[in-house]
Amino acid sequence: MLSINHLWKGFNIGTEHELSVFKDFSFTVEKGTTVAILGPNGCGKSTMFNLISGSLDADAGELWLDDINLSKTKEKDRSRYIGKVSQDPSRGVAPTLTIEENLAFSLKKGKSLKMKKLLNKNEQREYFKEILKTLDLGLENQLQTEVRFLSGGQRQALSLLMATIVAPKLLLLDEHTAALDPKTSKLIMNMTKDLIEEKDMTTLMISHNLSDAVRFSDRIVMLNGGKVVLDIDSDSITEEELYSLYNKQIEDDIEFTV
Ligand SMILES: Nc1ncnc2c1ncn2[C@@H]1O[C@H](COP(=O)(O)OP(=O)(O)O)[C@@H](O)[C@H]1O
Ligand SMILES: [Mg+2]
Repeated sequence: MLSINHLWKGFNIGTEHELSVFKDFSFTVEKGTTVAILGPNGCGKSTMFNLISGSLDADAGELWLDDINLSKTKEKDRSRYIGKVSQDPSRGVAPTLTIEENLAFSLKKGKSLKMKKLLNKNEQREYFKEILKTLDLGLENQLQTEVRFLSGGQRQALSLLMATIVAPKLLLLDEHTAALDPKTSKLIMNMTKDLIEEKDMTTLMISHNLSDAVRFSDRIVMLNGGKVVLDIDSDSITEEELYSLYNKQIEDDIEFTV
């Protein structure tokens, strides 16, 4: 289970540009659940992910993943338990390294038992070919290709594979299909679903695609102004209902702040 307890985070505190993103924010996610995170631009979705992954430090509050106190765990060590895929296909991969080198790096970073068993480079290569084959993008025959030569969709598929290669406890997807064309986006979403089921990961997925949010999640959470303003079972709502709730929430908030 992921628990965010009484989290505070602001930027440029004490200056004229002071911005308070989270004030005493608490949020929990049950193990094995896929949560779609919605909310207008700038409401703090990526900041929440950065606080969980450790790219940002909280001003106050605690973050727990099962019995691991994330707040006291360095970013590098958190990456053993947390996989992250961002919107930009060039993030999450090293463009001038080959597919094989990228995968080997992710495997090593996780320091998994699997890695310890895979002593032999040939065995490791065979394992990479095997998992790449499941993507059905022909990447298993391009292990020595530098990642910068891949298409955006191929890179996102590889990023997803890298983020999940050691079966992290928690998978964070930050608009990971937003830069892709509709067909590739669908392919990556299906791949995401298969990986989540296969590896039994707790998943948070930031998306502006309400149809994906309804179809691919168990729970839908909307943030606005650093607060949870909607929290429902995905089964209990249609895309159309979600669309109208989403707009109503944003309109209400505008009225409220005027
Ligand atoms: N490193 C930073 N320094 C200053 N302000 C930041 C920083 N990161 C994010 N912000 C601000 O915090 C707010 C929330 O940003 P973000 O979490 O990226 O929003 P979202 O992902 O929901 O669109 C925005 O107003 C953004 O400009
Ligand atoms: Mg964002």
